[in-house]
Amino acid sequence: MSTNLEELVTPDVPVRTAVKRTVLMCKPDYFTVVYRINPWMDPALPTDTSLAVAQWQTLYDTYLGLGYDVHLIDPIDGLPDMVYAANGGFVIDNIAYGARFTYPQRQPEGPAYMDWFRANGFDVRDPAEVNEGEGDFLLVGDVMLAGTGFRSASNSHEEIAGIYGRTVITLTLVNPNFYHLDTAIAVLDDTNIAYLPSAFDEASLAILRERFPDAIIATEADAAILGLNSYSDGYNVVIASRAKDFERELRARGYNPIGVDLSELLLGGGGVKCCTLELRR
Ligand code: ARG
Repeated sequence: MSTNLEELVTPDVPVRTAVKRTVLMCKPDYFTVVYRINPWMDPALPTDTSLAVAQWQTLYDTYLGLGYDVHLIDPIDGLPDMVYAANGGFVIDNIAYGARFTYPQRQPEGPAYMDWFRANGFDVRDPAEVNEGEGDFLLVGDVMLAGTGFRSASNSHEEIAGIYGRTVITLTLVNPNFYHLDTAIAVLDDTNIAYLPSAFDEASLAILRERFPDAIIATEADAAILGLNSYSDGYNVVIASRAKDFERELRARGYNPIGVDLSELLLGGGGVKCCTLELRR
């Protein structure tokens, strides 16, 4: 009997560690699509608010099941996009940098989220520059990746660097379907990311390739349902259930993908990550 040693050795899958998260969410009680500020939104298509709430509830329950501390901000009638809590600000070191939205339809959300941060003991910094919070700012270890091109102004990258004293890397988005950084990059842990190359300009791509040579490269099929818009605790990665390539790739690398269906919220141009704002005390 011949033995192939190669077959006996288990492939080198890294061991991942989950870190309990604290997040802020907003129930989509007033979700609908009545304006169009990104290509996913079509006010002519019907939306089902109760289905949106039910789908959102599965995401909320998933986080509770993972042991996360989930905080809620009250939704406001007339602000249908408030469910996308990631845009409400950016929080590290107990400092909340407020959002200043690009489009007038969402502008009242900025002060609403800042009020919540203040009431919950965060040190709030009023933004001078246009920025859409964690939609465009992603923390990877000690470094902040910052998106621009469609929403957050590049001046906000300087502003946020000054506030947190961390390195901020500007990345320019070029495809309107992936208008926020969190639709084109998924942060998996302190060193690993997944991204969609076609969403970035050449200079940004060069930076990503150099900094993250082992990154997961998203497929266009997964990207087409905002599959990268996911939330990881370092081991568990909550993703769109339809993002099958991403799911396979995550599993192969030792992560635990957990699929949820947020199809109704995709009508507003958002997914898992958009509904999630991380609170770092
Ligand atoms: N309709 C919202 C907008 O266009 C969707 C926001 C999605 N949020 C995100 N973090 N990508 O502003």
